[in-house]
Amino acid sequence: MTLAIYPGSFDPITNGHIDIVRRARTLFPKLFVAVVANPHKNHLFTLDERVEITQAALAESGINGLEVISFDGLLIECARELNAKAIVRGLRANSDFEYEFQMALTNRDLAPEFESVFFMTAKRYSFLSSSIVKEVCRYGGDVSTFVPSIVDEALRRKLGS
Ligand code: PNS
Repeated sequence: MTLAIYPGSFDPITNGHIDIVRRARTLFPKLFVAVVANPHKNHLFTLDERVEITQAALAESGINGLEVISFDGLLIECARELNAKAIVRGLRANSDFEYEFQMALTNRDLAPEFESVFFMTAKRYSFLSSSIVKEVCRYGGDVSTFVPSIVDEALRRKLGS
C-alpha cells in the first residue's frame, strides 16, 4: 500500500488543489495533505487557520482516505515519518515546471527513496492559484467558483471584503 503526501502552503486551499487531491486518491489509498509551516513566507492565514480551513474544505468535498497534517522543516523528513513513498504535486502552466523540477530533483538528491508524482491541472483550473484568489477577493471580486464556500467565507472574514 503506497501512501502519498501532498505538501503545500494551502493559503488557502482552492478548487484546483481539491481536484488534485481527488485524482491523487484514485492512485493512492491514503493521502496526507501536508500544510507547511514555513514562517519565512508571508501567509495570509496562520498555520492553524490553514490546517482548519483545509480540513473543513476537504471534509465538505466528501473525499475519503485523507489526513490533513502540518509540518515544519524538510518535506522528506515528514514523508519519512509518515512512511509515505510518493510526493504529489500539481502542475499548471509551463511556469510551474522549473520550480517543481528544482524541488523534485533536490528532494531526490536528499532522499532517493521518494518518488515525486505530478498531476496535470484540470483545464478549468489551469489559471487558478491561491495568490490570484486572494488578489481578487482583496478587491471585492467574486471567488465563489474558485474556492469552496468555507474558504470564500474565511477569505471575506480575513480581508473584510
Ligand atoms: O504550495 P507551495 O508554496 O508551492 O508549496 C511548497 C512546498 C511546501 C512544497 C515546499 O516549500 C516545501 O516542500 N517546503 C518544505 C521545505 C523543504 O523540504 N524544502 C526542500 C524542497 S526543495
